[in-house]
Amino acid sequence: MLNIALPKGRLGEKVYAMFEAAGYECPSIKENNRKLIFENVEKQVRYFWVKPSDVAIYVERGAADIGIAGKDILLEYKPNVYELLDLRLGICRMAVAAPADFHDDGERTLRVATKFTNIAADYYAGIGREIDIIKLNGSIELAPILGLSDVIVDIVETGTTLKENNLSVFETIVPISARLIANKSEFKFKGSQIEEIVRSLGKQVEGK
Ligand code: PRP
Repeated sequence: MLNIALPKGRLGEKVYAMFEAAGYECPSIKENNRKLIFENVEKQVRYFWVKPSDVAIYVERGAADIGIAGKDILLEYKPNVYELLDLRLGICRMAVAAPADFHDDGERTLRVATKFTNIAADYYAGIGREIDIIKLNGSIELAPILGLSDVIVDIVETGTTLKENNLSVFETIVPISARLIANKSEFKFKGSQIEEIVRSLGKQVEGK
């Protein structure tokens, strides 16, 4: 059995459709219930729905052989996994945003609110800017509006959330998309099955 961690939600449904098209269908997954594990013994696959930010943990520790994780999570937590394929789904970017009238006074420590403290720290270390990181867990856009921070580092997809809160992008840090990842030791044992999946999903990505 190949254990596959799918990110719960709309992205996961698109990813499952790609696995299905690749010949790894598991019809019971479409039943409308709250079950989290589904398997197709004939195809030797077992899928489970995981909170998107937890996929890399399941894969790193071998509870899943492969999974689909956002590049944001891979950059933030640097799990010890193989990154095999860019699925070109869930496309967005990690960006620095602030109120439109913000001017960076290089003399002062920059206050940065974010959920992605490592990505923010790496980015500002790279440009040699001293910062004070304020770790938040959600609604990051509130921080500069209420004076809690000068800027935010967050995911921007359509830009609607920023716009509706009168914030603008100042810098794009890195483009983000969903990646197929694999557990390093399981890749040795189940390499041929995993490679076959990578080839088939890769063809679908190229055909898009
Ligand atoms: C993300 C991000 C922004 C929003 C950006 O939040 O933190 O708030 O999406 O999307 P947009 O550019 O299309 O408006 P998400 O919905 O993932 O939830 P979160 O509040 O838990 O971070």
